[in-house]
Amino acid sequence: MNKNEIEKILKAGKITKEVREYARKIIKPNMQLLEIAEKIEDKIKELEGKPAFPTNLSIDEIAAHNTPNYDDKTKARGLLKVDFGVHIDGWTADNAFTIDLEKSQENKKLITASEKALEKAINLIKQNKDKTIMSEIGKTIQEEIESHTGLTPIANLSGHSIEAYDLHAGKTIPNVTNSSTSQIGEGLFAIEPFSTTGNGRVKDGRQSGIYQVVNQKNTRSPLGREILSFIVDEYGTLPFCSRWLIKKFGTRCLIALKQLEQENVLHQYAQLIEVSEAKVAQTEHTILIHDGKAIVIDE
Ligand code: CO
Repeated sequence: MNKNEIEKILKAGKITKEVREYARKIIKPNMQLLEIAEKIEDKIKELEGKPAFPTNLSIDEIAAHNTPNYDDKTKARGLLKVDFGVHIDGWTADNAFTIDLEKSQENKKLITASEKALEKAINLIKQNKDKTIMSEIGKTIQEEIESHTGLTPIANLSGHSIEAYDLHAGKTIPNVTNSSTSQIGEGLFAIEPFSTTGNGRVKDGRQSGIYQVVNQKNTRSPLGREILSFIVDEYGTLPFCSRWLIKKFGTRCLIALKQLEQENVLHQYAQLIEVSEAKVAQTEHTILIHDGKAIVIDE
């Protein structure tokens, strides 16, 4: 990474921090998820960043990948995970926090466990920097979460390396221990422990309305071509949602999206649900390891 790229990364982090503080202030029980998502995304643009992916607002047993539809009436409640990202020229700060909207002791415990697990994982990386053993991060997260009676980390969700326009750039940062001795190396990494009272795995739920271009090839319909060219210009290879496209094209884009998905031009993400449908909390920060330093860019 060169100096110019590092500047972009730090700027994305700074905007993320401001947007998180704003989101924490405005979110109240019974507010529509649609309004929350739009306010977060508008704030990102106001601060001269771009949303790196649609704001995820996932309640209770939905661990991730719930973004409101354009006509969504769902209201904020329960254990709400707010996961959003800011990018500058594709360089992304990815972060998440969880709030308890029903004053529940169980929710508080889940939130504390994921926050502490992240804090400990970050301390480990700050100590060892690029030499940090990735499985040690998983071990640290797992031990912290399991130290809270009845809680377990979600084993099949993990942190990830980030590169320009690539949110999951190849390296996986585990949330549980494993036998690998690989070091993390330099780069940009999202660390995101999930805690749950359930079995500790997620399964695919219903389709999310979150898409990504996976295969940029010709499509038959003229509207499909127009939409695809807009997607590639606006979002590149980053995820986007039908809600964003409807603003530009109206609901007629839904048929085109379906066709692009059938033609394998787009991939649509499924919601991720805890297998035993137990509650899930998540906390996430992005850390830059570079030049002998490890900096949390969004705190
Ligand atoms: Co992430």
